[in-house]
Amino acid sequence: MPRVDEATRELFEAALAVRANAHAPYSRFAVGAAIRAENGRVYTGCNVENAAYPQGTCAEAGAISAMVADGQRRIVAVLTVTGGEAVSTCCGGCRQRIREFGDPQTPIYAAGLEGVRGSFTLDELLPHSFGPENLRGS
Ligand code: THU
Repeated sequence: MPRVDEATRELFEAALAVRANAHAPYSRFAVGAAIRAENGRVYTGCNVENAAYPQGTCAEAGAISAMVADGQRRIVAVLTVTGGEAVSTCCGGCRQRIREFGDPQTPIYAAGLEGVRGSFTLDELLPHSFGPENLRGS
């Protein structure tokens, strides 16, 4: 793993651990996600697929739900762990989900099983985005 700070390493370990619980019998592509919220705590999620394919949910969605259910509303950092060879960044839908609670500079790390492969900001992954402030004053 390239050198990452202690907080990022903690996210990596948490995402790697929760990935083991992914329910991905259809894609066989297990994903683990870890989010640090404003309170400093780490919230995790894994993808949960469904025999009715469109009902499956992404790992990031589960982690965000856990964060919100705990009363938190600000995302400080996100890290996902996937298998495969590529740098697998969050899907478009999850970028938008993160947008709701993050800010343009929120770091989003894409990790493989061996560690972090890429580091991006939310604004890099979702430029010119639509967020809560667009609804203000309408
Ligand atoms: N998946 C995630 O959990 N997060 C992403 O950002 C990308 C895709 C899941 C959805 C599906 O269960 C599997 O990975 C293959 O697309």
